[in-house]
Amino acid sequence: MNKFTRISKAVFPVAGLGTRFLPATKAQPKEMMPVVDKPLVQYAVEEAYGAGIRHMIFVTGRNKRAIEDHFDTAYELETELEASQKHDLLALVHSIKPDDMDCTYVRQPRSLGLGHAVLCSEALVGDDAFAVLLADDLMVGLDGGPSVLKQMVDQFLEVQTSLLAVQEVPLEHVNRYGIVAGQSAGERLIKVAAMVEKPDPKDAPSRMGVAGRYILTPGVFGHIRNQKRGAGGEIQLTDGIAALIQTEGVHALQYQGRRYDCGSKQGFLEATVELALKHPEVGPGFQEYLRAFKG
Ligand code: UTP
Repeated sequence: MNKFTRISKAVFPVAGLGTRFLPATKAQPKEMMPVVDKPLVQYAVEEAYGAGIRHMIFVTGRNKRAIEDHFDTAYELETELEASQKHDLLALVHSIKPDDMDCTYVRQPRSLGLGHAVLCSEALVGDDAFAVLLADDLMVGLDGGPSVLKQMVDQFLEVQTSLLAVQEVPLEHVNRYGIVAGQSAGERLIKVAAMVEKPDPKDAPSRMGVAGRYILTPGVFGHIRNQKRGAGGEIQLTDGIAALIQTEGVHALQYQGRRYDCGSKQGFLEATVELALKHPEVGPGFQEYLRAFKG
């Protein structure tokens, strides 16, 4: 097999229903919910761009037009900002989609599961290895360190197998994650022997939970296409990856950084508070407010 020399495409499955965030997600995508001042999907796109990726592929569904609009030109707004000489704001709006970034959209006609969403990107991905980012997992690297996806890309280019981002999770939470088991293959690196979706704590093979960042080889598409519906009647990405373990091998990287599960209310609130505290504009004032807050 030819060596993969770079990752140039990222897939953003954004076609889920976001039922845990109803009513907010009735008419707007959960990926457009802002943490402080930026929508979740923009954090993920910036992470991919920072890792050297220039082609962003969004798997969208109904009610997701706001995402396409966000990465498109906003003529009226831009004309207004230009006329009123608000150059800083204009630069901010332009920075959402740098000129060397391409965005492509494909529809997932029904929310049949994450595996099915990834399969919808096959024609656009082709024979390349590619990144998958779940925008509702907001990932922050260590202060001054590389982003989680950059760590993944660097590791992938060495191991040349599909790679999963993992973190150790509390035993009582294993039933919220895909869980991997395997042997150490280097610092923070695991050669994956098995992967199960949302196991019962008593059946979990380990506490290594998969977070929403993957680098996948194109071999995964064939496995997803041929698999039956898995847990919850959905076409699971986990099942496609489990098949890859047998055919090509899969590694997992214990990334350095922090994950906020913004698909849940608790995680979204934690991200909002912690990122607000670090925000250059509102951070100091918000810190003062929290100190004085008595509840
Ligand atoms: P989730 O498991 O968080 O599902 O999907 P969801 O539907 O978005 O949210 P809840 O559980 O109903 O609140 C993880 C990621 O996979 C995408 C979602 O958009 C999210 O980014 N996804 C999920 C799809 O694109 N298509 C699907 O059919 C399912």
